[in-house]
Amino acid sequence: AKRKVVVTRQLIDEAQELLDGRSDLEIVQWQSEKPCERSWLIDNAKGASGILLMLTDKCDEELVSTAGDQLKVIASFSVGTDHVERDALKKRNIRLGYTPKCLTDAVADLTIMLILMAQRRGGEAMGKVLAGEWPQMPWHPLLMTGPQISKSTVGFLGFGRIGQATLKRLLPFGISRVIYLTSKPGQPVKDDHYGLTKQTEIPIEPAKNWEQLASESDILIVGCALTPSTKHLVNADFFARMKKLAVIINVARGPIIDTNALVDALDKEQIFGAGLDVIENEPNIQADHPILKQPRCVLVPHIGSATIATREQMATESVKNLLAGLSGEAMVNEVEL
Ligand code: GLV
Ligand code: GLV
Repeated sequence: AKRKVVVTRQLIDEAQELLDGRSDLEIVQWQSEKPCERSWLIDNAKGASGILLMLTDKCDEELVSTAGDQLKVIASFSVGTDHVERDALKKRNIRLGYTPKCLTDAVADLTIMLILMAQRRGGEAMGKVLAGEWPQMPWHPLLMTGPQISKSTVGFLGFGRIGQATLKRLLPFGISRVIYLTSKPGQPVKDDHYGLTKQTEIPIEPAKNWEQLASESDILIVGCALTPSTKHLVNADFFARMKKLAVIINVARGPIIDTNALVDALDKEQIFGAGLDVIENEPNIQADHPILKQPRCVLVPHIGSATIATREQMATESVKNLLAGLSGEAMVNEVEL
C-alpha cells in the first residue's frame, strides 16, 4: 500500500509539483482557501506517515495518537512551532521540520515597516487623509510629529535570526545602542548569525533582566518564541517601566503581549505607539475591539513572511522536510525535540 501524507493547504508551483511528482505516496490535501478544519484533519490523519501543516493547525497529542504508530514526520510551514506539542512528538520519535531561515529577511523588512509606521504615525496619518480630514489639518510645525530612529536604544526581546536581521537593517539609520534579552539574561547571545556583536561599533549587550529592557529601550522589538515563560511577559508592569516616547513592535506571537495592558498603556500615554503583526486571539479581532480604537497602534494581519518569494520558499522547504522525514534523510531545517 502507498504511504499516506496529509497536507493542510494547496501549495504553489514548485512545492506542489514536488508533491505531485511522488506517485509512490497517497496525497490527501485540504482543498479550500480557508484554514483546514480540525475535524477534517483528525479524520484524514488516520494512517498517515507524514503531515504538512500550517501554524493555524494545532498539532497535539490527539492528532498524533489518532494518526497512529506509522506517523514519522510533521512538517510545519512556519518558523514558530508553538502550535506543536513537542512532547507528543518526542516520545514517539516523530521528527519535526520547520522553515526558520528562508523567512528571516521578509519578517525583518516588515519589522522596519512597523517601527516606521509606529514612530511616524503612518496608520493614523493616512487614516485622516482617507477620512477627508486633510483640509482641517494644514501643515503645522508640530503636525503628526513622533520619535525617530537615529540615536535610539533598540531593545530586542528574543535575539535570534529575525532580531539580528532587523538590527542589520537598523544600523544604517544611526541607532546608538542595542540591548537584548534571551532566555539566558545577562549572557551573550549564543548564535550571532551575522557577526554583528563582534564587528559593530555601537554597544550590543545582553540585558540583565526584563526590567532593564523595558526601561531603556526607545524601540522594543518582540521577536522571541511563545512559551509558558514568554506568555504575557509584556504586561502592565512592563509598560509602566517603558519610556513615554518608546514604541513596541511584535512580529512574534500575540500572547507575548497582554493586549489589555497595551490598550491601557496607550490610553495613559505610558508609551508612544505600537506596531503589531500578531495579537492575542487573532484573527478574531472585530471592528469594536478596543485595540482598534487606538490611533497609535498599527495592526496588520500576520503578514510578516508574506512576500511572494518567501512563501514559495517556505512551501518548497516544507515539502522537502516532509519527504526527508519519510525517507529518514536530513531535513532543510529540523527542530531538535
Ligand atoms: C509565522 O508567524 C511563522 O511562524 O512562520
Ligand atoms: C531567545 O529568545 C532568542 O531568540 O534568542
